[in-house]
Amino acid sequence: MSLRSTSIVSVSQFDRPDLERLFALADRCAPVARGERASRALDGRLLANLFFEPSTRTRLSFGSAFRRLGGSVETTVGMQFSSMAKGETLEDTIRVIDGYADVLVLRHPDVGAARRAASVARHPVINAGDGPGEHPTQALLDAFTLRNECGRIDGLRIALVGDLRYGRTVHSLARLLTRFDDVELVFVSPPQLAMPKSVTDVLDARGLRWSTADSLVDALRTADVAYVTRLQAERFDDPAQAARFIGSYVVNRALLEEAGRTDITLLHPLPRLHDLSTDVDDLPGAAFFRQAHNGVPIRMALFCEIFGVEP
Ligand code: NCD
Repeated sequence: MSLRSTSIVSVSQFDRPDLERLFALADRCAPVARGERASRALDGRLLANLFFEPSTRTRLSFGSAFRRLGGSVETTVGMQFSSMAKGETLEDTIRVIDGYADVLVLRHPDVGAARRAASVARHPVINAGDGPGEHPTQALLDAFTLRNECGRIDGLRIALVGDLRYGRTVHSLARLLTRFDDVELVFVSPPQLAMPKSVTDVLDARGLRWSTADSLVDALRTADVAYVTRLQAERFDDPAQAARFIGSYVVNRALLEEAGRTDITLLHPLPRLHDLSTDVDDLPGAAFFRQAHNGVPIRMALFCEIFGVEP
């Protein structure tokens, strides 16, 4: 189904043909994303980039994607500089900005914020992270990276490591991977930060095999890919409570050597903290910066679909 003029709030909107089409489109966008070819596909179009939570990669890669296609970008960053600081509702803020732009990208601390925004906007709204809820475009770039790094997604065994409770990227990625065949997920986290039942229920309903592992080194031994995530300290009721999990999972060179897996594909949505050591960076499978760069062509592909243009 075409994504023309469609808001993107959840990965559940994408079926397998959508994903194959977006990946092929992202391949065609890649030279434009790298600045090797210029595009005027979105000439005269305006993106409102609305970020009410911290962001570097997502905000800049959405902006870069839109500009590389010839469009312009207006950005607002932080609640304190928006009218929401005066008590305006999200809905009213969106109704107003909807009249200034052709597409809206929204990052907001509340689960469901993008869906609420999409319900009042005439233009498409793209969810760039709704609190601990979803981050659908990150899942798209993660899947695009898996396909590029591993040559396929079907049949991969992927260890998801870290704060699986509050990390929205792993929620979206796990759900998106149900669109592929024979993917197996292994969850490695402190028990208090386990993958929520709301996500595992979806995996069960769609027949994706998953398990939890107590030992990180054992999980690494048999996985094709390790997807590591940071502790989401800002999501804890008391952020001081997060401190006790620091160091409870650390992927470093010594651990990969112990597992006999210096060849593993390593992904991370970034930013990394204590969870992923810089001593893995020169391993051939350390793909996390290539992954971050893939955010531009995949977001270009999404804009091309939404506006019905070729790059
Ligand atoms: C992620 C996010 O914001 O959820 N960052 C990103 O968009 N690449 C991951 C994180 O902040 O841990």
